[in-house]
Amino acid sequence: MPKALISGITGQDGSYLSAFLLDKGYQVHGLLRRASTLNTDRIDHLYKDPHDPAARLFLHYGDLTDGSSLSRILRKVEPDEIYNLGAQSHVRVSFEQAEYTADVVATGTLRLLESVRDYQVTTGKRCKIYQAGSSEMFGAANPPQNESTEFYPRSPYAVSKVAAHWYCKNYREAYGMFVTNGILFNHESPMRGETFVTRKITRALGRIKAGLQDTLFLGNLDAKRDWGFAGDYVEAMWMMLQKNKPDDYVVATGEAYSVRDFLDEASGVIGLDWSKHVKIDPRYFRPTEVDFLLGDSSKARKALGWKPRVSFKELVRMMVEHDVELARQERTLVTAGHSVALRGVANA
Ligand code: NAP
Ligand code: GDD
Repeated sequence: MPKALISGITGQDGSYLSAFLLDKGYQVHGLLRRASTLNTDRIDHLYKDPHDPAARLFLHYGDLTDGSSLSRILRKVEPDEIYNLGAQSHVRVSFEQAEYTADVVATGTLRLLESVRDYQVTTGKRCKIYQAGSSEMFGAANPPQNESTEFYPRSPYAVSKVAAHWYCKNYREAYGMFVTNGILFNHESPMRGETFVTRKITRALGRIKAGLQDTLFLGNLDAKRDWGFAGDYVEAMWMMLQKNKPDDYVVATGEAYSVRDFLDEASGVIGLDWSKHVKIDPRYFRPTEVDFLLGDSSKARKALGWKPRVSFKELVRMMVEHDVELARQERTLVTAGHSVALRGVANA
C-alpha cells in the first residue's frame, strides 16, 4: 500500500487530496497543528479510530515551524509521496504577519527539504515531494502566465512562495531529489476558508437569503482570477508525482473572471440583487494588489493529461447551494434560541 504524508491536511486541499488518495488505495498520514480547539472539521468524515483495522488515515502532531517534528514523522511514516500543502495561505493576512508567513511558507519548506534530505541519506529510502506553489508568484506579470513567465510577487505570502519554489528547484538540482513544483491558480470549493473572497461571498449570500445578515463588506471588485474547482486540482498534484522526473507545472482553467463577475453569477443562482447588500470597505484592500491572473496550463494538459472538469458556472452554483443549505440550518438553530458564529474576521 503506497503511503502519502500531507502537510496542511486540515485545509481545503488537504481534505480533497486525502479523499482522493484514500480512494486510490493509499495509506494517508497528515501533519496536525496543535490548537486549543479541534481543527479537523474538513477531514472528520474520512477519519476512523486508529484502533480500527480498516483505518488508513493517521494524524501526527507536527508543524512546519518545528523541524525536529518533521524529521521524527518522516522516520515513523516512511512515506512514498509527500505533499507540502501547509501554509499561512491568506494573502491579506501575510501583510499583517509577514515574518510568520515567511517562517511557515518559505523556511517551513526548507525545513521539510532538509529533513527529507537527511532521511534519504540515512535510510537509503527515496520519496517524491510535491510543493504547493501559487499563481500569486506571478503577481504583476502580464497574463496569460505559464511556466516561463517571470515571477513578480506582490505580497509577503507570494515572496515566500517564490523562495519555497526556488528552494525546491535547488534541492532537485543539488541533491537529485524528486521535488515537483505545482503552480496552481486559485481553486475553490464548499470547503474553502471563509475569508477567501469566493466563500466570503457565497456564505454571505446564503445568510442574506436566510435573513441572518444584511450587508457584505468587500474590497477590490475589479481583481480578476482564474478560478477552478479544488477537487480537480488535487488530481493534478497526484498526477505530477506519478511522472518519472520532477518538473514544474502550471494548473489553471484558462478563463478569468472578476470578483464582480463572481458576485453576478453567485447572486444570479438565488435571484438576489447584490448591489443592495454589498458595501466597499477599504480595510479589505491590499497594500499591493494582484490585478489579473490567467493561467496557461498547456504543459500540464499535454504532459499529465490533466484538464479541469468543473466549469466556473458549476463551481459557483455548487458553492452557493452548499452555503444556502448551511445558512438554512443556522436559521433553524437561531430560531430555536441558539447563537451561530459570525466569522467576519478583521482585514481578511
Ligand atoms: P488552507 O485551506 O489555508 O490550508 C492550509 C493548511 O496549512 C491547513 O491545514 C493549516 O492548518 C496548515 N498550516 C498552517 N500553518 C501551518 C504550520 N505552521 N505547519 C503546518 N501546517 C500549517 O489552504 P489551501 O487552500 O488548502 O491551500 C493548500 C496549499 O496550496 C497552501 O500551501 C496554499 O498556499 C497553496 N495554494 C492554494 C491555492 C488555492 O487557491 N487554494 C492556490 C495556489 C496555492 P490549520 O487547519 O491548523 O490552520
Ligand atoms: N479575501 C478577500 N476578502 N479578498 C477580496 C475581498 C475581501 O473582502 N474583496 C475583494 N477581494 C479580492 C482580493 O483583493 C483579491 O484580488 C481577490 O479578491 C481574491 O482574493 P482571495 O480570495 O483572498 O484570494 P487570493 O487570490 O488573494 O489568494 C488565493 O489564491 C492564491 C492563488 O492565486 C489564496 O488561496 C492563496 O493561498 C493562493 O496562493
